[in-house]
Amino acid sequence: MKVIRVKDANEGGKKAFEIIKDGMANGAKVLGLATGSTPETLYKEMTSSELDFSEMTSVNLDEYVGLAGDDVQSYRYFMNDQLFNQKPFKETFVPNGKAEDLAAECKRYDGVIANHPIDLQILGIGRNAHIGFNEPGTPFDVTTHVVELTESTIEANKRNFEKVEDVPTHALSMGIGSIMQSKKILLMAFGTDKADAIKDMINGSVTTDVPASVLQNHADVTVIVDEDAASKL
Ligand code: F6R
Repeated sequence: MKVIRVKDANEGGKKAFEIIKDGMANGAKVLGLATGSTPETLYKEMTSSELDFSEMTSVNLDEYVGLAGDDVQSYRYFMNDQLFNQKPFKETFVPNGKAEDLAAECKRYDGVIANHPIDLQILGIGRNAHIGFNEPGTPFDVTTHVVELTESTIEANKRNFEKVEDVPTHALSMGIGSIMQSKKILLMAFGTDKADAIKDMINGSVTTDVPASVLQNHADVTVIVDEDAASKL
């Protein structure tokens, strides 16, 4: 893994943007995208840039079960609001959290990924080292699946909801197996509460207890960390 240390999330967003720009200059057509607070500075760089994304396709990692795309707390809404409304892409994919048949939706999404192989996957990391919503214990070879969110993830995500009971208990997530198929992976982490996860991901053993540790097995991973997230390295 290549580790790039930056001062803060703003500098991290700029670095990540440069990597996306280089990737696109070298022919990348499909971006794997993440939600949450981590990629926000990157999306600001993208929306304020001159770069044209109208020939690009995006495939997002995950969506809450039960939330429609026009629900302000859904990840589809987040992506439209933070990125796509300002920077139109050719096609954008996010799992459908309102699908009646969730198993069929997982299959459909696996088809989306198969038809649009990801050139560059953007990742954040959970405090428990989850990637996407692949929580500790998730087998490394799974594809899109329904996840029961852990207490710690619900706790971390409640900031976006009025009360903790409003946080959905389940999500649809791209699996670790699919994430690992991406040609290139760029993981970003900012803040002290990510320091343990970053230490375990980079220096620990590869174990399903630390989902992000699987990235040690990928040939092309770049990690952008600020001083706080890197403080235990
Ligand atoms: C979001 C996602 C999650 C987040 C992680 C960190 O699409 O896949 O793995 O990247 O929970 O969230 P933040 O960035 O809010 O700390």
